[in-house]
Amino acid sequence: MHALVAVTHAQTFVVWFTGISGAGKSTIASIVEEQLRVRGLPVHNLDGDSLRLGLNRDLSFTDADRRENIRRVGELARLFNNAGMIVLVAAISPFREGRDVARQRIGAARFVEVYVDTPLEVAEQRDPKGLYRKARSGQLQHFTGIDSPYEAPLRPEVRVDSSQLSARDAGDEVLRTLVALKLIGE
Ligand code: ADX
Repeated sequence: MHALVAVTHAQTFVVWFTGISGAGKSTIASIVEEQLRVRGLPVHNLDGDSLRLGLNRDLSFTDADRRENIRRVGELARLFNNAGMIVLVAAISPFREGRDVARQRIGAARFVEVYVDTPLEVAEQRDPKGLYRKARSGQLQHFTGIDSPYEAPLRPEVRVDSSQLSARDAGDEVLRTLVALKLIGE
């Protein structure tokens, strides 16, 4: 008889960063990614901006296309998760329902919603890609916060105000939550 060998797999989960453009989702996600890698954990980053250059390049920013965008990103996250990767998603994902569907599909126990909360005025002032300026001047339609809605999470696992916290401190806050939820070790 062979002795039973216990093989322990690291628990996989999805950290879903939501918030308006320019709030700092991608920056905070990169910091969390780096910290998870340092711990030797397999992690993959799914960024809305990058996915829109490939998988989702057929989608616009109408409400319907954003819903489809988020559905695809959620399914992709679920697949990576099932293949053993921790997944970080950074996408505006403006609709509560879309995020809730992703939570159900992935499994509530392994879904960590991070609301990167920043006043519109702050994001607009940063305007790293010059998109708010274009939206205000009418060159860009359906821009989140200007002429397209953003529905803030009601009970996110983490809320960070990126106008008050540095990206590194926000990342630390996310990591502390992952420890508290017992998704990663100390
Ligand atoms: S989502 O609403 O469908 O989740 P996603 O995160 O994929 O959006 O893409 C948002 C990024 O697309 C923004 O960070 C910005 O760089 C770019 N973008 C281009 N047009 C718009 C728009 N009308 N509204 C919001 N973001 C836009």
